[in-house]
Amino acid sequence: MPARPVPTVPDRPLEGRVALVTGGARGLGAAYVRALHAAGAAVVVADVLHDEGAALAADLGDRARSVRLDVTDEAGWAAAVEATVEAFGGLDVLVNNAGIANSAPIEHYSTAKWDAVIAVNLTGTFLGCRTVVPVMRAAGGGSIVNVSSVEGLRGGERLHGYVASKFGVRGLTKSLAVELGRDGVRVNSVHPGLVRTEMTTRIDTDAVPIPIGRAAVPDDVAGAVVFLASDASAYLTGTELVVDGGLTAGV
Ligand SMILES: NC(=O)c1ccc[n+]([C@@H]2O[C@H](COP(=O)([O-])OP(=O)(O)OC[C@H]3O[C@@H](n4cnc5c(N)ncnc54)[C@H](O)[C@@H]3O)[C@@H](O)[C@H]2O)c1
Repeated sequence: MPARPVPTVPDRPLEGRVALVTGGARGLGAAYVRALHAAGAAVVVADVLHDEGAALAADLGDRARSVRLDVTDEAGWAAAVEATVEAFGGLDVLVNNAGIANSAPIEHYSTAKWDAVIAVNLTGTFLGCRTVVPVMRAAGGGSIVNVSSVEGLRGGERLHGYVASKFGVRGLTKSLAVELGRDGVRVNSVHPGLVRTEMTTRIDTDAVPIPIGRAAVPDDVAGAVVFLASDASAYLTGTELVVDGGLTAGV
């Protein structure tokens, strides 16, 4: 019997695919945008920071566009997805990355703080998924990558709304995975650890014990997103991919 060929990952596993990344203008989102583009995808940068998003798309050249999108805005979502399909003919990959963080001891954690972080991190992710599913289903499939956090796996002092939102993203990912598997729409979550971005500038990263010995940079997480977006992960749905340098390995 001839040997079964060993599966290989092509150099550009996303050639011909179309991806939209929320919060893609800077930080982790910008690293995802660059990595997806390098993997062959056409990419739409969707962010409230429109100038930064437009500059990134211009830097990448063809196969890149930017749209102004506040992920809490239902009508904005419909327009962003429509613009993507119009520009590139479809939408195969959605990365729900836009996020904010806030913190306070529970007695001082205001309802406004709670509402803000749930609106962007959890409701924004829900709206994105709900808007793209009909497009992906009609095309016979797609991949949704929801950005949670290690704070979606464990508690974090004073991070009440953030932790709740990231556990919510993890749970939403699983309910969608169960519902959409037969439609070829895969839904997975990524759980970064401590990454050096605008969000973490006030954290003393050296004080955090990370088995790999350093905090992450955004590119450390981008490979996981490309993997989940591509056919290399064709049998993964509802999975939690933890990219934390071992931060939670001993928990
Ligand atoms: N930095 C970390 O250590 C870390 C760890 C785990 C998870 N995360 C998650 O990764 C994601 C990206 O975080 P980051 O560290 O790159 O932060 P960042 O602040 O550098 O980037 C966040 C991006 O989201 C955009 N954004 C915020 N609110 C938005 C909205 N309403 N609509 C559209 N865009 C909006 C911002 O403009 C920005 O471009 C977030 O979901 C965050 O929770 C970060």
